[in-house]
Amino acid sequence: MTFSITLTVNGTPHHLALDDLRVTLLDLLRDRLGLTGTKKGCDRGQCGACTVLVNGRRLNACLALAAQQDGAEITTIEGLAPEGRLHPLQAAFLEHDAFQCGYCTPGQIMSAAGLIAEGADGADIERIREGMSGNLCRCGAYRGIARAVAAAAQSENGETE
Ligand code: FES
Ligand code: FES
Repeated sequence: MTFSITLTVNGTPHHLALDDLRVTLLDLLRDRLGLTGTKKGCDRGQCGACTVLVNGRRLNACLALAAQQDGAEITTIEGLAPEGRLHPLQAAFLEHDAFQCGYCTPGQIMSAAGLIAEGADGADIERIREGMSGNLCRCGAYRGIARAVAAAAQSENGETE
């Protein structure tokens, strides 16, 4: 038996037939839609590498069943720069040296986008760190990540450093 869902991913509607109701949103994005910018780290909700926005809120895609997302609007890292111009968060990560190997970076940036949408105060670096604590970085680039997210939040909110 197949189950049909419709997802809007980065602004494009997709009608998808699922043969297996256990498929996760992460596997669907990567394997069915070819959106491999969303990374698989732990596959059990512990690292944040798979973070995407679902209806504007951050979610670990490895913990979400695709079947439960019928009708949802999903944004992945590929959707942040649709015209090939860097998103302010991407530019801030470059400017503040916020990555090394880059494996965690798409999840960090999507989580940061969600955090800023939640109203993060760019002047409060401790709250930024706390808000990003679900995203692990094995390279230990945390200082740069926090600075980059704070700078992007400040510019989003029209604050000055
Ligand atoms: Fe989803 Fe680690 S891969 S939280
Ligand atoms: Fe390597 Fe974060 S930059 S895991």
